[in-house]
Amino acid sequence: MDGETRANGHGTNDQPSGPPTGEPHDPAAPAIPAAPATHKGPSRKTVLRAALAAGVAVPVAMLGAPALARTGAGSGKVLDVTPSCDDGDDPTPPQTEGPYFKPNSPRRTSLLEPGTQGIRLTVTGYVFGLACRPLPRVLLDFWQADARGAYDNVGFRMRGHQFTDANGAFTLTTVFPGLYPGRTRHLHVKLQAPGRPVLTTQLYFPGEPRNDTDPIFDARLLMNVRDVGNTKQAEFDFVLNVPQAPIPNGARY
Ligand SMILES: [Fe+2]
Repeated sequence: MDGETRANGHGTNDQPSGPPTGEPHDPAAPAIPAAPATHKGPSRKTVLRAALAAGVAVPVAMLGAPALARTGAGSGKVLDVTPSCDDGDDPTPPQTEGPYFKPNSPRRTSLLEPGTQGIRLTVTGYVFGLACRPLPRVLLDFWQADARGAYDNVGFRMRGHQFTDANGAFTLTTVFPGLYPGRTRHLHVKLQAPGRPVLTTQLYFPGEPRNDTDPIFDARLLMNVRDVGNTKQAEFDFVLNVPQAPIPNGARY
């Protein structure tokens, strides 16, 4: 049909076929143990953002424009980045797809439709490779429960795919997902850099009581979330297992 459909199909049809796994309906599905909510030492990006907040000049080649834009647009708080991509490791961990993924979602950055109920939620972030360089043209295919905790398995409500821009940035406009039995609050997403394997994972909200009891929950996938008026603004940076040339030594912080 059009390029959008093909792009989405390319990004999602590479998934292994077979019955869906995970979430509460498949107790045999392997659950990724939750990582402790501790952080390693400051990552390269954390240091870079701190430097930015302090007004220290940092070579653009060192950090990339996205971190600059992001830090400047925020409340002044320097965000910790999970996971870090300072050592060429720690790509964003995968998670189960669950039973509700559907391929060929519409291309759109907003999942809001006329009459959509719920607290407005904006998710922004960047997609980086292993050397913390931003990745353009990365497919992100989001799906989630609506504000009542229901998935649309007939149509495509609360489903949509998009691509990172030239700076590796993405923005999703949606609603705060509702809870449903057996899970904590979460978003689902698949990512695929051009020509690379698909990463399937989930994103979580801090302070949710069920984070402590959901066996799928992983603290490394917690977003930074803040209330802005009667809306919520969340941030998360992905790190894909995409080899990149290291940032040159000698660049100063
Ligand atoms: Fe789910």
